[in-house]
Order: sequence, then structure tokens, then C-alpha cells
Amino acid sequence: MEEKKKVLYSAVQPTNNLTIGNYVGAIRNWVQLQSEYDCYYAIANMHAITVKQEPALLRQRTLELLALYIACGVDPEQCVLYVQSQVPCHAELAWVLNTITYVGEMERMTQFKDKSARHAENINMGLMDYPVLMAADILLYQADVVPVGLDQRQHLEITRDIAVRFNNRYSPTFTVPEGIYRKVGAKICDLQDPTKKMSKSGEDPNGAIFMGDDKDTILRKCKRAVTDSETEVRYDPDTKPGVSNLLSIYSVMTGKTMDESVREFAGKGYGDFKLAVGEAVADVLIPIQQEQKRLLADKAYLNGVLNRGAEAAFRTARKTLSKVYRKVGFYQGDK
Ligand code: TRP
Repeated sequence: MEEKKKVLYSAVQPTNNLTIGNYVGAIRNWVQLQSEYDCYYAIANMHAITVKQEPALLRQRTLELLALYIACGVDPEQCVLYVQSQVPCHAELAWVLNTITYVGEMERMTQFKDKSARHAENINMGLMDYPVLMAADILLYQADVVPVGLDQRQHLEITRDIAVRFNNRYSPTFTVPEGIYRKVGAKICDLQDPTKKMSKSGEDPNGAIFMGDDKDTILRKCKRAVTDSETEVRYDPDTKPGVSNLLSIYSVMTGKTMDESVREFAGKGYGDFKLAVGEAVADVLIPIQQEQKRLLADKAYLNGVLNRGAEAAFRTARKTLSKVYRKVGFYQGDK
């Protein structure tokens, strides 16, 4: 008999353009993990509206993100690919989990504090509740593992706390998920401020390389990347954060080890080095962009993938939700 695979869950928000940090930290790992696990990959549009979105753009980006996943190699025949808002169980479970989550815990979340500072005019309940919705996402599918960027670690820890709390208060219901954090390349930093994570919302647009950037833009951004006053290409994140970040990018884009990468640039200047990094990034991104464009022209196909995905996700999610409703004492008719 075939052994039952472990369940993997992850999601990305359809906001802005994704950076190569998102690609390396999330999507690319998804492709590597899809045959090993039973995978659920969501487009987290309900998380997205915790900050202001342009509705038409949000809708458009949902399809773009789906096409991007598939273009990057995520196989819709092998994984469940779906849009979060198309499966109502997420909002439903989040409500129940809200009742065992404390306001104080949510106020202490780093990302909530950061976003509150950045969007002081819009500190809405959803923004504060974001980690609970994320916990609902993960727990609905009884996920064993959750590959995420290091910035999501705190959200994963609170998900585990919430799962354990529910299991203790009622009875064992949820699988307590483990985070998978990649070491190399898990953290790609800003090209203009290499002490900060590369972010889609960073201050300087030259600090991030977006998945949709054309070759000239990629090369220009790498060329302008902040380095240091030395001349040696060497990996030392503490004293040479800029160069080390570029080396990380080079290594993950080419699949070469850090040692190999460093050796390759021995005796070479920063100019040649930066050009090589840009070329390596473009070599990965351009074919993905072409495939994404081709897929976006086939709406019927993309809609089919999403409909099938939502149905499959619903089947799993509904099972968990029924169990939860039974445990908390919700009347469910004769079900
Ligand atoms: N908050 C995640 C991010 O911004 C996206 C996300 C939503 C997620 N739900 C999730 C990631 C569930 C992993 C599991 O990156």
C-alpha cells in the first residue's frame, strides 16, 4: 500500500509584485516539495485586504499569481492550488480560533506592530487578526509542515500555540504544524540596505528585484547595489552585508554552493561580479515571465484550475471544520 504523504500548506498574498526574495523563500521551495508532500498552496487574498487594496488590481493579481506559480513549476495536477476566499471555511474557523486567542498576544506580534506603524490611519481589526486567519488556513488542512520565510516564524509559532490550546481545551483535533525555514537564501536582503530583508514594500524601489522586472532593470538594480569600500568578493554577512547578499542571490539562482560562488569571483572586481549576479537572476526570471504571459492568455484553463482547487480544498477543510464545530458544541442538525 502506498504510504500516506505528509500534508504541506503554504500561501502567498496577491499584493504588489513578488520579489526574488519571495521566489527563493517560498515558491521555488514549493516546487521542490510538491512530490514529497500532499500540498495545498493558497493565494491569500483575505490576508491581502488587511491593508488597502485597489479591488480591480487585487482581482487581476490573483490570476497573475496563479499563473506565476504554475510558470515557476507548481503542478496543478499534483497540488491543490486555490484562492483563499473561495473556501469559506477559512473565515469560519478563524472566528472560532479568535475565541481562544488573546488580544495581548496579537498586540505583541512584530508584523502587526510594524504594519500599524506603516499604516497608522488603518489599524483595522483584520490587521490584528491576521495571524489567527493564518492559523485557520494551516490548521484546516491538518498541515504537518509549513514552508515560509523567516519573517513568518512568529505567526507559525502562534499557530502552534493556538493548535495546542484548542487540543487541550477540547480534545486532540489539530495537527501541530512544523515550520520549514530554509537556511541558504531564506533571507534575501534589500540591495540598497542589505541589513534589511528584501521587501515588496521597501522604501527604495531599487532595493528589490521583482519577478516581473525586465532584463535591463535587473542588471541596473544589481549594478547599483550597495557594497563596501573593499574590493574582495567574500562571504561575510557581518562586515560585508551587501556583497554577501549578492553572493547569496548568485548562489541560489545558479544552484551553485556558496564556496563555488566565492571561488568563481576570486580576483574579480565588483563590477564583473554584479554583472554576473544580474545575468544569473535574468536567466531564471525571463523564461518564467514568458510562461506566465502564455498562461494568462488562457483564462479558461486558469479558472478551471481554481475551480478544481477550491473544491478539493473545501472537501478537506470542511471535514476539519465539522469536527471543530462538534467539539465547541455548535448545533449541526443531523450531520
Ligand atoms: N502571511 C503569509 C505571508 O505574507 C501568507 C500566508 C497566509 C501564509 N496564510 C498562510 C503562509 C498560511 C503560510 C501558511 O507570507
